[in-house]
Amino acid sequence: MSVKSLCVFSAVLVLCCVGCEANQKASRGVTVPFVFDPRAVCEPRCQHMGLCIRNNTCFCSKGYMGEFCQYATCYPKCKNGGECLRPGKCRCLPGFGGRYCHKVTCEGGCLNGGECISVNGVVKCLCPSGWMGSRCHEAICPQRCQNGGVCVAPGICSCTDGWLGGACHTAYCKQLCLHGGKCIAPNVCRCREPFFGPQCKNKRKP
Ligand SMILES: *[C@@H]1O[C@H](CO)[C@@H](O)[C@H](O)[C@H]1NC(C)=O
Repeated sequence: MSVKSLCVFSAVLVLCCVGCEANQKASRGVTVPFVFDPRAVCEPRCQHMGLCIRNNTCFCSKGYMGEFCQYATCYPKCKNGGECLRPGKCRCLPGFGGRYCHKVTCEGGCLNGGECISVNGVVKCLCPSGWMGSRCHEAICPQRCQNGGVCVAPGICSCTDGWLGGACHTAYCKQLCLHGGKCIAPNVCRCREPFFGPQCKNKRKP
């Protein structure tokens, strides 16, 4: 009894059918130990260049798996909930990056020396002392900047015109307030009785 073999060639593998009719296809190439039924029907069809080797049995191309070769496989596996889009290509969840979604990434990065970390699956910036905010972009002024002053660096207030001091809490009067008067707002003196006027220069008559 002579046994003929039929081989089919796909992009990635050679399958041979032992005992098939030789006139179906040229019998050549490497013989591999697969039983291949040329009349096999796979429903649904094998995807991603997979071969239908027996009824409803697909032989998948490298990088694919599943009953119909419908799933791509990634090695190493996609980490942190990432999805394997095609062999070796992961789609990462927000907050993760890198080829295998193994790196934590913070949107826009962390500023001022902040470090991007993942805590229980939540990705965030870990800020150094003196800084806060989602990207460590807000300076902390424990003294609280007053009168419209803005905290520009840890403990440093930038004051609006007419205000001075670490917390912008001291008004500045260009002209001194005289006779015990007090500068209570930019260029505004509060005078002691019986003085009055912009600089408390004038004395009320009794
Ligand atoms: C494969 O399926 C076809 C059609 O459904 C059927 O005719 C054939 O006998 C099946 N072959 C085998 C080996 O079961």
